[in-house]
Amino acid sequence: MADSPIRVAVLISGSGTNLQALIDAQQRGELPVTIAVVVSNRPGVLGLNRAQNAGIPTQVIDHREFNSRTAFDKAMMIAIDQYQPDLLVLAGFMRILTPEFVGHYTGRMMNIHPSLLPNYPGLHTHRRALEAGDAYHGVTVHFVTEQLDGGPPIVQARVPVLPDDTEEALAERVLEQEHVIYPLAVRWFAEGRLHLEGDRSKLDGELLPPQGHLIDATG
Ligand code: GAR
Repeated sequence: MADSPIRVAVLISGSGTNLQALIDAQQRGELPVTIAVVVSNRPGVLGLNRAQNAGIPTQVIDHREFNSRTAFDKAMMIAIDQYQPDLLVLAGFMRILTPEFVGHYTGRMMNIHPSLLPNYPGLHTHRRALEAGDAYHGVTVHFVTEQLDGGPPIVQARVPVLPDDTEEALAERVLEQEHVIYPLAVRWFAEGRLHLEGDRSKLDGELLPPQGHLIDATG
């Protein structure tokens, strides 16, 4: 384990249930991190209240106040770097990032995406899995690279698609697993066990399989 807790910046755009899972794990003593700041590109979202309730500093950088992606990302970088994070955690952060931003944080930025990547990058993942008639669906935590929802996977959790599933029921089943695997991936990083090496994730000195570590929650 690292000697002192690493500093984490969490980026959100909405309700922040993944942020809450990280706060809860940290408060239970299961996550050796200091959440140094929560940054939202949207004012007034529930995730900001969650951070404030946990005594975590917050910053709102409203993307609508910038006339380019580059200017927005630059403002984000300046705000984030004041907190000297070791890791950036994108937790429902719904903006496409510029290559400059991604390059600045390469190897120290993770995202969670609600599908078994490389299936269904982008939006409406649960609907698309249902429409395709998939037997399984799930969620991926991955290092962020310039590819949208596409960097090297760290961990995936797989859930069943049930015969009478609605989009909402499936989303809920996936979200439950999100709250398991995101704290796990952040813990591995905080413990110094997880690294990005080239285009693969490495855990405990071993390259992970292309889909990352698999957690089977279909049973
Ligand atoms: C989560 O389902 C997360 O996987 C998804 O947004 C939701 C945020 O929920 N992220 C993406 O779709 C990224 N492409 P939360 O705000 O309650 O954590």
